[in-house]
Amino acid sequence: MSLEIPWVEKYRPKTFNDIVSQSIAINNLKKFVQNTNIPHLIFTGPAGTGKTSTALIIARHFLKKEELDTNLLELNASDTVRIDFVRNVLKNFVNQSLFKDGSLKFIVLDEADNIPGQVQQALRRIIEKTSNNIKFILLCNYINKIIDPIISRCAVFRFVSLPKEKIIERLKYISEEEKLKIPSEKREEFFKHLFFISGGDLRKAINTLQMSVALELLENLDLNEILKISGFLDVGTLENLITAIKNKDFIKSKEIIRLIETLDSRNFIRQISEVLPSLNIAPVNIINLKTYIGDIDYRISQGADEFIQISALLAMIIENVQS
Ligand SMILES: Nc1ncnc2c1ncn2[C@@H]1O[C@H](COP(=O)(O)OP(=O)(O)OP(=O)(O)O)[C@@H](O)[C@H]1O
Ligand SMILES: [Mg+2]
Repeated sequence: MSLEIPWVEKYRPKTFNDIVSQSIAINNLKKFVQNTNIPHLIFTGPAGTGKTSTALIIARHFLKKEELDTNLLELNASDTVRIDFVRNVLKNFVNQSLFKDGSLKFIVLDEADNIPGQVQQALRRIIEKTSNNIKFILLCNYINKIIDPIISRCAVFRFVSLPKEKIIERLKYISEEEKLKIPSEKREEFFKHLFFISGGDLRKAINTLQMSVALELLENLDLNEILKISGFLDVGTLENLITAIKNKDFIKSKEIIRLIETLDSRNFIRQISEVLPSLNIAPVNIINLKTYIGDIDYRISQGADEFIQISALLAMIIENVQS
């Protein structure tokens, strides 16, 4: 078995029909691509749901193989944070096309929501001025971070996080193609764990599957090991933590967290959110806690100390547990 090509690339959808879910976006796009007069596009939605894949399918739909190098420009956020880069490289690419025949050109801007406001303004002017044969496809996780004048020049398509059965179906397909030997008694449980780890992100699901194979975890299929290497608490640790929380033992719960070597705070937040209903907490307080969890998640994303934030969260949960 070859592990050289990442499976996310090997199994990247090549046609609209390979795209799992996203039927609203895909059905409309299929109609759009029937003529060359398509608008600029924005694909927005969570990670690993097919945005980049779909953008490439569209470019390939209109471009001949030999045009892919010349007529398709893919940029990501690290390219586009610099205004001079946007001005020079984009303008060059855009202007070049004026000399060509009417063939289409595509500019795919990945992580467009990370482009600073000022650069977005420059981008907007470039978009305004480009001729009809240049098509922008902007990809982002959060559309609210894109300035209105850009949004209003594009057709927006929303990609949704993939449901459990679709993710599992795709993983099963890949497992069959790769002829993986998964112990049958743990098979379903294995795929359920992969889905949990993925949180609806098919890229993550596929990567975790490939990693499990690379680390030779399939044979004895230790699901706890897979959870741990993916930055989640194994079942035993999670149970200990739940017990400490139920006993309202803050010191103990903090200690459990402190001892985890590979704590991934955002994964932890997701895991703890899922067990909230099993704790003895009044429904109204669960709602409040979820709001608080959102704040904590935001603070961590902004660089706050993870251990302090997680400790604060544990304290808040314990306070709400009824004894
Ligand atoms: N809807 C989907 N159908 C089939 N495969 C998918 C889908 N979404 C994701 N994948 C798989 O995950 C990989 C990553 O998908 P893609 O790059 O299109 O995600 P993305 O939405 O652009 O994510 P990001 O926001 O992180 O850039 C693909 O190569 C493919 O293997
Ligand atoms: Mg992408």
